[in-house]
Amino acid sequence: MNYFIKTYGCQMNIHESEKVAKILEDLGYISTNDIELADIIAFNTCCIRETAESKIKGHIGELKRLKQLNPKLIIVIFGCMTQQTSVASLVAKRFSYVDIVIGTTNLHLLKDKILAIKPKKQIIDVDECSAHPELNSSRTSYPNAWVNIIYGCNNFCSYCIVPYVRGREHSRNKLDIINEVKQLIDEGYKEITLLGQNVNSYGNDLQDGSNFADLLAEIATLDGHFRLRFMTSHPKDLSQKVIDTIAKYPKICHSVHLPVQSGSDEVLRKMNRRYTRQHYIDLVNSIKSTISNVGLSSDIMVGFPGETEQDFLDTLDLVRQVRLTSCFCFVYSRRKGTLANDMVQVPQAIKTDRIKRLIETQNQITKEISKTYEGNTYEVLIEDTNTRFVDTYCGRTDCGKLVNVKSKVNLIGEFIKVKIKKSQSATLWGEIL
Ligand code: SAH
Ligand code: SF4
Ligand code: F3S
Repeated sequence: MNYFIKTYGCQMNIHESEKVAKILEDLGYISTNDIELADIIAFNTCCIRETAESKIKGHIGELKRLKQLNPKLIIVIFGCMTQQTSVASLVAKRFSYVDIVIGTTNLHLLKDKILAIKPKKQIIDVDECSAHPELNSSRTSYPNAWVNIIYGCNNFCSYCIVPYVRGREHSRNKLDIINEVKQLIDEGYKEITLLGQNVNSYGNDLQDGSNFADLLAEIATLDGHFRLRFMTSHPKDLSQKVIDTIAKYPKICHSVHLPVQSGSDEVLRKMNRRYTRQHYIDLVNSIKSTISNVGLSSDIMVGFPGETEQDFLDTLDLVRQVRLTSCFCFVYSRRKGTLANDMVQVPQAIKTDRIKRLIETQNQITKEISKTYEGNTYEVLIEDTNTRFVDTYCGRTDCGKLVNVKSKVNLIGEFIKVKIKKSQSATLWGEIL
C-alpha cells in the first residue's frame, strides 16, 4: 500500500507533512512519488493567498479521475485551508469523493479517522483541539531537520489568515525541544531549523522564564558538528539579546529572515505590524554591525488596501537602503475574516505594476550582493542535487546563499570548502577546494 503526500505552503507545512507521513507509515503505507500508484493521497493545504487556494482546489478536482479509476483510493485534505470558517464543509460538498477533511489542531486523530473510513461516507473534523500532542516525523529533508518550537500566532496582522487557522501561540516545553534536537544530531542531521510563525515569542506563554535567546544559546552549545537556523522573526520582537546570541555562538547561522512587509509607516500602521520604518532600519543596522557577513532576507507585500504611490515609493526606498540579500515579494491578497478584507482595495493593474517594479529593484540588489561573493571561500553544507545540471550539487553558506558545485560523488550532508567562481543573480557557482 502506497501513500502520496502533496504539500503546499510554508516550512511549517513541509514539517507537518513529515508528521502525517509517519502516521501513514505506522499504518503500513509506503511512500511513493507517483500519485497514480497511491492507495492514499493526502494534500497538505495553504490559504495564505487566494492564488494558493485556487491552485489547490484545482488539484483536488483532478483527483476525481483517480478515484473513479480506483474507488478504494483514500483522499485526505488537511492543513490551513481546511481550518477557515466553513471551508471544510464547502470542500467536502464540492469534492464529494474526498474521504477525510481534517483541521490543523486535531491531526493526531488522523490515524483513527483513516481506520474508521466507510465507503461513500465523508469524515469532516475541523473542531479545535487544545491537547497539542507532539507527533513524530518521518523526515524527508536530510541533512536539515525541522523542529517546531512554537505554534500559532497572536499578532493578527490585518492582512493575515494565519492566526485564524493556526490558533493562539503555544510554545513547546524547552526540555522536549532540546531532547529532540539532541536525538537528531545523534542521528546525523547536520542542520537544525527551529520553526515558528514568530520564534521571538517563544516562551511568552510558558511560566518557567524560557525565552528564545536562551533556547538558541542552549542548543548552540550542544555537542556535534551542526548548524542552527530559525524562522520567522518579527521586527517588533527581535531583541538585541537574540542578535548578540547569534553573533556569539559559531553554530548559529549568520542569517536572519525578518519580514518588513512595507516601507511606509502609514501602511505598517494599517497592517497592525506595530513597528515603524525607522525601527526596522535601526534593527537592520544593529544586525549588520553585530553579526559579521550576515545574510538578511525579508517578505514584502505590495497593494495593501490604501497603499498610495508615495507609500510604495517609500517601500522601494527602504529596499534600496537596507540592501537585503534576498526578498520574497507578494501581491496583497484579500482573505475572508481578516480586517484588511473590509478596507478599500487597490486596483489589480496598480498591484501588477508595483510588484514588477519591486522585483526589478530587489533583483538588481541581489545581483550586486551576489557579485561580492566571487573569489571568496565559504563553508557550504551540501543539501541536495541540482537536477537541472549534470553532476551538480547545491548547498548553502552559513549566511544562507545558495551555491552550486560540480561533483561526481554524492556530497549530500557534507560540509565542504568552496571557492566562489561565478555569481548568477541569486545563485553562486563554486569550486570545491
Ligand atoms: N509569520 C511570518 C510570515 C507568515 S506568512 C511573519 O510574520 O512574517 C509569509 C508571508 O506571506 C508574510 O510575511 C507576508 O509577506 C505574506 N502574506 C501573508 N498574508 C498575505 C496576504 N493576505 N496577501 C499576500 N501576502 C501575504
Ligand atoms: Fe501572519 Fe503577522 Fe502572524 Fe506573521 S505575525 S503569521 S504575518 S499575523
Ligand atoms: Fe503556512 Fe500557508 Fe498555513 S503559509 S501557516 S501553510 S496558510
